Amino acid sequence: MFDSTIDVDAARLLADLKRLREFGAFKTGVHRPTYSEADIAARRWLRDRMVEAGLDATIDGIGNVFGRSRTPGPCLLSGSHLESQNEAGWLDGAMGVIYGLEAARSLGGGVDVVAWADEEGHYGSFLGSRSYIGELSETGLDAGRNKYDSTPLRDALRRCGLEGVPRVRFEPGRYTGYLEAHIEQADDLEARGLKLGVVTSIVGIRQFRIRFEGTQNHAGTTRMAIRRDAGVAAVRLAGAIHDTFPRVVAARSVWTIGRLAFEPGAPSIIPGAAEMIVQFRDADDAVLDRMEGTLLDLVEQARRGPCDVRCDALSRSRPSLMAEPFQDALEAACEAVAPGLHQRMPSGAGHDAQIVARVMPSGMLFVPSIGGVSHHWSENTADEDIVLGCRAFARGAKDILGQAG
Ligand code: HGY
Ligand code: MN
Ligand code: MN
Repeated sequence: MFDSTIDVDAARLLADLKRLREFGAFKTGVHRPTYSEADIAARRWLRDRMVEAGLDATIDGIGNVFGRSRTPGPCLLSGSHLESQNEAGWLDGAMGVIYGLEAARSLGGGVDVVAWADEEGHYGSFLGSRSYIGELSETGLDAGRNKYDSTPLRDALRRCGLEGVPRVRFEPGRYTGYLEAHIEQADDLEARGLKLGVVTSIVGIRQFRIRFEGTQNHAGTTRMAIRRDAGVAAVRLAGAIHDTFPRVVAARSVWTIGRLAFEPGAPSIIPGAAEMIVQFRDADDAVLDRMEGTLLDLVEQARRGPCDVRCDALSRSRPSLMAEPFQDALEAACEAVAPGLHQRMPSGAGHDAQIVARVMPSGMLFVPSIGGVSHHWSENTADEDIVLGCRAFARGAKDILGQAG
């Protein structure tokens, strides 16, 4: 195995992570939605840190931040996303970006660093990494809307000064592969007393928006027999989904109705409209197809009720396998820094690595999440676990680069 006697600068790593947390600080986490002031300020700060690290740094037209090593290659591309979910954790995405930067600084060349835009889907699905692999067209930009307030993506980009800025595309031949470190966002490592996870696969995710149109009316004077209550239609479909899915899913399938809104949402008004967002995940496309078919059947049944029902697919991401040689190199690095305290494991969360894996071999490394909490401001990982993870990550990166010759 390639000799990888390197180490990372733990103080610098933690200091950068804690500085990054100041952009959009919210309780002990962050509120840093894509293209918000805090997000753009964080991207500009990162760009400057990349320059200080001797990288040629740019922010591209979709908001991806790239730090390019001056070594001719082959290189590794390493990073994660920089925005957060709303009022969420300080490490989801950010940790992988700073690991990439720290690996670039510690290895002294051969590592390009990236901070993707909008992995968290405020405006779409994996906007930054899909733009990079050439899957986000100009019409895709035209169609982008903020999931919460419908702000057009182009308006957000213009507000951030990114309108007309070229978008960086994958360069065939420059990279031997992509590495991403991330918090586990679950409690498997912690429950087993382990410190590191080598990711084997990443789930596919599908999301649908279902809208119900009924008749808004007085909640006291409108007879029950003539109502077209959009709220009733929505909760009935929600119940049918939760009753029916268990019969068609696989052992690790998950599904969530993360948003269910009634309009106008007043106690004395029969909801004239209602909207839900349904999301489901599995590592097998055939299972996802079964779940999607089941959902569409249930929507058809809902259409027999008094309300109009519209169902739109918001996004679909494919399951992805991580490159075996990268898994092997990461596992060897884990064994070197934390003997016996690591495992190979699937990812129930989506990650940019599943998009980048379509153009180059990709690998991921997990560190434990305290209590398995994520997508919540209390998300956290012990400093010593963050440092240990970065040590393993940098060693794995160096071995992979060494193998590339
Ligand atoms: O939802 C996810 O899987 C990712 O954390 N955005
Ligand atoms: Mn996330
Ligand atoms: Mn993430």
